[in-house]
Amino acid sequence: MKIVVTGGAGFIGSHFIKYILKKHPGYKILNVDKLTYAGNLENLEEIKDNPDYSFVKEDICNRKTIENAISGYDVIVNFAAESHVDRSINEPEVFLKTDVFGTFNLLEICRTRGIKKYIQISTDEVYGSADYGETFTEESRLNPSSPYSASKAAADLLVLSYYKTYKMSINIVRSSNNYGPNQYPEKFIPLFVTNAIEDKKLPLYGDGRNVRDWLFVMDNCAGIDTVLHKGVSGEIYNIAGESERENIFIAKKILKYLGKSEELIQFVNDRPGHDRRYSISCEKIKRIGWRQKTSLEDGLRLTVEWYRDNRQWWEKIKSGEFLKYYKTHYK
Ligand SMILES: NC(=O)c1ccc[n+]([C@@H]2O[C@H](COP(=O)([O-])OP(=O)(O)OC[C@H]3O[C@@H](n4cnc5c(N)ncnc54)[C@H](O)[C@@H]3O)[C@@H](O)[C@H]2O)c1
Repeated sequence: MKIVVTGGAGFIGSHFIKYILKKHPGYKILNVDKLTYAGNLENLEEIKDNPDYSFVKEDICNRKTIENAISGYDVIVNFAAESHVDRSINEPEVFLKTDVFGTFNLLEICRTRGIKKYIQISTDEVYGSADYGETFTEESRLNPSSPYSASKAAADLLVLSYYKTYKMSINIVRSSNNYGPNQYPEKFIPLFVTNAIEDKKLPLYGDGRNVRDWLFVMDNCAGIDTVLHKGVSGEIYNIAGESERENIFIAKKILKYLGKSEELIQFVNDRPGHDRRYSISCEKIKRIGWRQKTSLEDGLRLTVEWYRDNRQWWEKIKSGEFLKYYKTHYK
């Protein structure tokens, strides 16, 4: 199989590329990534010389170059997105451009160039907050709260329209909060782990009792691989971690693993439109054979250890673009 992975230099996309090359010898992967602040080719260092892997630096909003590069490929798996909720509140426009218009571009390329299959990597955030103890299924209504989740929901609807109108073979994957090595340190778990390592404060939104469902990144990659091979065309699949925890629980766990004091936790003003709880059912993807392998306990310990042992990876990031962004918006 020849797969175009967009956004493959980011957190989940880079793990997915390494996962596929290992699991399916002989598969070919073309990584198309604009290399925004979140794209990092160091994430792919170990496979950069693999003859089955190639890379093109390009924006998914630019159709021409991508059209030429992907000739002969079977499937597009679209990870490329602006993905950080806080940034979407401060600078929503780029989210609309990449997450909606970029998705449209890729769908058009599939339609006009005869690419056999398109997989959209979406998120549980499109369902909005599960405030009343409910668990959302693939049939639940879309009710996004942030410009980020609204742009992802809009993209999902566009993808479904290409299935209905053009009979294109598509799937949508909606996963819960991923965590693991190589996640950009603006996101909750890597921010808290790296701050704790540096004895800096851990800025916890609101009362710290927002609930997220945590999914280890390799389990998500295995889920996407299951959908790639066994997904029924036109169907949406949720991938859940089945590990719902309050943010304060995660913060305390991280501090415990690192032997640091809970006094490092600092409560800060809540994010506007902050969803209280995410909760999705993954019974549908289980029916096509996916099972989660990594418990939250094991995955979190492994993740903390990775950041502890790979300071050179995140110290560079935290002193560059990241610092500039945080100084502009949070100081
Ligand atoms: N991280 C999570 O917890 C999570 C959970 C559910 C779904 N998702 C979805 O998974 C996907 C990947 O998330 P991630 O956490 O790896 O994100 P990330 O921010 O780490 O990586 C995004 C990648 O996309 C690239 N990119 C951004 N704009 C682009 C453009 N216009 N053209 C080409 N490349 C572009 C970036 O350079 C980067 O390499 C996203 O679509 C996100 O919505 C993420």
